[in-house]
Amino acid sequence: MLKKLTELKKQLSQNKKDIELLHNENIPEHVAIIMDGNGRWAKRRGLPRVAGHREGMNVIRKIVRQSNKLGVKVLTLYAFSTENWKRPKDEVDFLMRLPERYLNKELPVLMEENVVVRMTGSKEDLPRFTLNAVENAIEKTKNNDGLILNFALNYGSRYEIIQAVKKLYLSIDNQTESVDDITEESLSKFLMTGDLKDPDLLIRTSGEIRLSNFMLWQLAYSEFWFTDVLWPDFTEEHFNEAIRVYQKRIRRYGGV
Ligand code: IPE
Ligand code: IPE
Ligand code: MG
Repeated sequence: MLKKLTELKKQLSQNKKDIELLHNENIPEHVAIIMDGNGRWAKRRGLPRVAGHREGMNVIRKIVRQSNKLGVKVLTLYAFSTENWKRPKDEVDFLMRLPERYLNKELPVLMEENVVVRMTGSKEDLPRFTLNAVENAIEKTKNNDGLILNFALNYGSRYEIIQAVKKLYLSIDNQTESVDDITEESLSKFLMTGDLKDPDLLIRTSGEIRLSNFMLWQLAYSEFWFTDVLWPDFTEEHFNEAIRVYQKRIRRYGGV
């Protein structure tokens, strides 16, 4: 009885905190997260690294729900980088199975929550079963109009910029256009993020203070928030904390 009451109290105070945030107009539209620290989380428990990835997968559901609740429009999750192929084959194999595992379980919930699934990254090199799972989710959720859940999968920003430059080069019509027609907007269009607005807030867990080849172009004016918390330990409350910090930041974009 007492335990129930304490829990209820905790829930009420959590709701109140969420509402305080909800009524604030300054919710970041696009939040990007470098979900890092799964391996260390597992190692500290004497478990294989993949146990950390499994646990990390379960955190995604909570953060998707919380993003929806707060009115975030786009949530980008860095799930696999172009550099992560360097990991041992067993780990890569496990990571390639994760989208399937996650989406098999979560797709009904995502539909219920009106989420649109997207992917930013290179489809080349991804196994067929990984792509099938993602493409199926993209197709099934394409008519939803809620939160965009964008997975950065086999994504690397330098590669992305190179392929954008190549596409831009090929798109130039030599009759009517010149090199002067190349603008920030025209290049942005060919980035893998396409029409998605740049992230307002970048979160990285696990205490690493670096970008690891993530959205180098798109993060030019984003606010950064780093935490030592490992991704499998990340909760809605940490997410709220990041949003609160963001809400207090003053974005100048070079102005005064
Ligand atoms: C992040 O956790 C998940 C991926 C990169 C796929 P890590 O696997 O990088 O965990 P650490 O950084 O080794 O602890
Ligand atoms: C970045 O984390 C990639 C993802 C979270 C998917 P890493 O763990 O691969 O980054 P580094 O190697 O520590 O820079
Ligand atoms: Mg890492």
